[in-house]
Amino acid sequence: MKKIISPSLLSADLAFLYRDIEMLNKSEADWFHIDIMDSSFVSNISFGTLFIKHVKKYTHKPIDVHLMIMHPEHYIEEFKFCGADNLHVHYEACIHLNRTIYSIKEYGMKVGVAVNPHTPVFLLKDVIKDIDFVLLMSVNPGFSGQKFIHQTYQKLEDTKDLILKKHSSALIEVDGGINLEIASLLFKNGADILVAGTTIFSNSNPKKIIHRMKLENI
Ligand code: DX5
Ligand code: ZN
Repeated sequence: MKKIISPSLLSADLAFLYRDIEMLNKSEADWFHIDIMDSSFVSNISFGTLFIKHVKKYTHKPIDVHLMIMHPEHYIEEFKFCGADNLHVHYEACIHLNRTIYSIKEYGMKVGVAVNPHTPVFLLKDVIKDIDFVLLMSVNPGFSGQKFIHQTYQKLEDTKDLILKKHSSALIEVDGGINLEIASLLFKNGADILVAGTTIFSNSNPKKIIHRMKLENI
């Protein structure tokens, strides 16, 4: 268990983006999570590569990019060159998942496969040894501020079992609806990386929240 915190900029105040980037730079946050949405895979539109490029200019922390787009294989090069360090693609959006995984690796990025709440993790059995992260969606992707889906705890168990069985070194990342209490439970149950938007950015002291997310007991 690594206890990595990846705050989602979807919940940042974009009119004060530099301020929020600086706050995260000075915080115990490990990565910057950037959600890319195309209005097709999910019914929302968020950021593009230009946004990532600007964030990258002001931080040395790794950029954790979550692609909620159809045909992610068409944009791998663009995401590499705008500054993505980790690139997550959705299982549900990839017809040739194996090829997409290898293409991301060839560009020197770490690769994650995200699964929607309804997608069973055993479907990753033939790629689990090839990937760096499994990204478990604990809300239906597309929006911040949604309620955590409790079935995720079972999926966390299933993912740990699969990783063990297949001798994979993939880390488990969980994304969506995570508050302090849920964060503590997820880390205790073996999650390595947690993404949080609303819980961090809606608080008057986001640095303190990030600190508390990493504590053993809240
Ligand atoms: C949802 C995104 C999440 C979201 C998390 O589609 O993938 O990263 O920004 O935000 P909260 O923590 O508010 O659920
Ligand atoms: Zn995300």
